[in-house]
Amino acid sequence: MPPDSQNPTLAVESLVTHFPIRNSFGIRTGWLRALDGVTLDVAPGEVLGVVGESGCGKSTFGKTLCGIHRASGGRIVFQGEDATHAGSAQAKRLRRKLQYCYQDPSASLDPNWTIGRSLAEPLVIHTRLSAAERMARVHAALEDVGLAREHLSLYPHEISGGQQRRVGLARILMLQPSLVVLDEPTAGLDLSVQARVLRLLMDLRERHALSYIFISHDLSVVRLICRRVAVMYLGRVVEIGPAEAVFGAPSHPYTAALLSALPVVGGERISERFRLEGEPPSPGRLPGGCRFRQRCPRAGPACAQQEPELTPGGEGHAVACHFPLAS
Ligand SMILES: Nc1ncnc2c1ncn2[C@@H]1O[C@H](COP(=O)(O)OP(=O)(O)OP(=O)(O)O)[C@@H](O)[C@H]1O
Ligand SMILES: [Mg+2]
Repeated sequence: MPPDSQNPTLAVESLVTHFPIRNSFGIRTGWLRALDGVTLDVAPGEVLGVVGESGCGKSTFGKTLCGIHRASGGRIVFQGEDATHAGSAQAKRLRRKLQYCYQDPSASLDPNWTIGRSLAEPLVIHTRLSAAERMARVHAALEDVGLAREHLSLYPHEISGGQQRRVGLARILMLQPSLVVLDEPTAGLDLSVQARVLRLLMDLRERHALSYIFISHDLSVVRLICRRVAVMYLGRVVEIGPAEAVFGAPSHPYTAALLSALPVVGGERISERFRLEGEPPSPGRLPGGCRFRQRCPRAGPACAQQEPELTPGGEGHAVACHFPLAS
């Protein structure tokens, strides 16, 4: 489905999440800028990929959208209504439709509860359904994700990693969401299980008219299933656009560097010149100007002076760089 910029499911404007940095006496000494001004849209039915190195703020972005972290600034507009302030009744109602699927599937499952109890719990909290109605929903969700009813009486440690992912998905389906943030949904799974989980995700998207924000380290998976992709670096989106443009002709040197680490079957790598060196600076102590400049082979004096803004090019492709690569 093409991005529907007139009527997005989700519109995020300058979203900021800062965490306090405290010394050993518990006194705040600064702020860790985990998410530092993210603006993007998700269209109905879209699968938007979010990629970037470990620690760049992908999970913080997803968790802030879903109200797990409180936004320090900016706006989250979901289906045309403001969902920014996690405590408000409106945000609570909207956020049932906006669900986060944990990076670690066991994190959303209580080890002392059976799978059946974990699945029914969101309905107990958020709905007034009777026990029989809840059980009917649990059975339907279980069937949706391809698990047998026998799993209901098992505990999380008694099922496999792939099955835990399926239970995690069933749990978020309980509240009939419109947009799901999938945080590393295939991490830690072997290739055949990964393929089955991805097929299941695409099936569920069709059947339940879902949009996804698909967070992943795995660029080859993102390339396979996302129409559009956002590349994050230290709490900001540095490049966003159609997957074929971002992967085929990246504009940001950081995207090119990420891609040069990707194994290539046939064809050429984007550029060996952009091999990523060193570690990113701490989000608690960001450099002035462009936050990628200390690792960037193209950095010039302008990059130390001013942080580049995300600037639209053609066809929905935007880049935040003073010296973007020519396509
Ligand atoms: N609850 C928290 N309190 C304080 N700092 C946090 C918290 N959650 C995340 N951070 C910090 O915010 C930054 C971004 O973390 P985040 O988990 O969003 O990264 P990520 O891109 O999801 O990484 P990964 O790919 O490893 O999952 C990191 O520096 C992390 O240490
Ligand atoms: Mg993460």
